[in-house]
Amino acid sequence: MDSDPLPSDVSRAVSRARDAGLLRCLAPRVLFFRSVDSTNGVAGTLDADAEGVVVVADTQTAGRGRRGHTWFSPPGSGLYVSVVLTPGRARRDADRATALLTLSAGVALAEAIELETGMSPAIKWPNDLLIGTRKLAGILAEGVSVAGSTGPPSRVVLGYGINVGRMSYPPEVARVATSLGAELGRDVDRATLLVATLVRLENRYLDLLEGRFGAILEDWRRRAPSHRGACVRWETPSGDETGVTDGIDESGALLVRTRHGVERIASGAVRWD
Ligand code: BTN
Repeated sequence: MDSDPLPSDVSRAVSRARDAGLLRCLAPRVLFFRSVDSTNGVAGTLDADAEGVVVVADTQTAGRGRRGHTWFSPPGSGLYVSVVLTPGRARRDADRATALLTLSAGVALAEAIELETGMSPAIKWPNDLLIGTRKLAGILAEGVSVAGSTGPPSRVVLGYGINVGRMSYPPEVARVATSLGAELGRDVDRATLLVATLVRLENRYLDLLEGRFGAILEDWRRRAPSHRGACVRWETPSGDETGVTDGIDESGALLVRTRHGVERIASGAVRWD
């Protein structure tokens, strides 16, 4: 699929960051599409040397969310971005680096939003970004196999969506979502925010590759107040289970105190009461 010309504001912002030495491993190429089904889908089809390549779209016709949800992606108002990464090439403990990828991305996005707007979104495990109780941004990491290779996928497409401009949401989204524009009462420049997210992502990705897991976990915990003391519920084969969050472990799994003891939830649907 052929990409469209990179908008000039995006091109200028990326060049400035490169010239300042801020983008050294991410964004060797930025592919822009006016409209795609899903930037994660496009990024998943890129060839073997795509490490760091960024796919951006103005709108997605079938934006993917976690657990089969769709991501509302109207034109002109959101950031829809996917980056091709290989956390498995981390210098030590590649499994842990891979497990912590989405948490580190959550920290990176929160940092970028704070730098650009002064607003500090809270992270909700594993990696939703919230303002109050409303969702501002989401992250979807998908493992993909490189054509011709066998074995487990070594490449991860890290996709994120940020609600930037004021949008008119479908009713089911309007109840739970917010945007930077709505919160700040002013416009936020998407090109500048895009580059800020890529710069922070690069920093956090290098933390992962170089084994600085403690720094990621510490910053994640500081930005995620509900990882302790919040009531949660989730489904098990024997019915609903409830408990109170009791931190995250060293691989980013959520710990929940229940009447049976502390449960470890590595992934899956948790409802927050
Ligand atoms: C979530 O459910 O919270 C994750 C949402 C992730 C949405 C982004 S938008 C860019 C990228 N492409 C997709 O199809 N999904 C992700």
